[in-house]
Amino acid sequence: MQLESILKSYARYAPVYDHTFGWLLSFRGRSMAAGVTNKRPGKILEVGVGTGISLPYYHHEHQVHGIDISPDMLERAHRRVKRRRLGNITQLEIMDARKMHFADSTFDAVVAAYVMSVVPEPDRVMQEIERVLKPGGDVIIVNHFAAERGMRRNLEAMLAPLSNKLGWRPDMSVEEVLSHTGLKEVSRHTLPPMGLFTMLHLKKDA
Ligand SMILES: C[S@@+](CC[C@H](N)C(=O)[O-])C[C@H]1O[C@@H](n2cnc3c(N)ncnc32)[C@H](O)[C@@H]1O
Repeated sequence: MQLESILKSYARYAPVYDHTFGWLLSFRGRSMAAGVTNKRPGKILEVGVGTGISLPYYHHEHQVHGIDISPDMLERAHRRVKRRRLGNITQLEIMDARKMHFADSTFDAVVAAYVMSVVPEPDRVMQEIERVLKPGGDVIIVNHFAAERGMRRNLEAMLAPLSNKLGWRPDMSVEEVLSHTGLKEVSRHTLPPMGLFTMLHLKKDA
């Protein structure tokens, strides 16, 4: 994925995102991700927060910080926070997830929903997530991952060369995400519709 095409795609998607992709991707992934982080109080980072569609799911006592590379998407997130009076959203910032401006071990939990197959250099994003996470902290990744076999795998391989046009990579494997991190897998859940999405819960050693 190239940064320029991401910025162009999301400038185009931002006005309609909540009623199209936002709605299509709304099958439990975001509420489940926030559900894990809501189990214990703390400071949460949402990477690729987009229009802030997940923000109302976080517990009101938890401080949430959101970053995104697209000013158009983030503008919508700001409006949502104001409209919904989400006082626990401490900051929404334009930032590249490949080089975050946070100190090491800043957050108790990091969430990245429908982001890993969109970002350029997901390996660097994973390393950054691990760096800014406190020891013992949780990472929740919700994403579409490539099927291991069958018709779906063939279709994803066929679509892969169109990634820059689509604005996401249909052929990213779970292993590609896990191989760049020392985070330990806690659980893996397949999500609807039709098992197209996966929620990964990872943990940093305490
Ligand atoms: C499919 S949207 C997901 C938005 C939101 N997480 C959701 O659940 O709807 C992917 C988001 O990742 C953001 N993004 C892509 N590359 C990024 C990067 N390098 N750093 C930060 N955000 C990035 C895009 O701007 C977009 O808002």
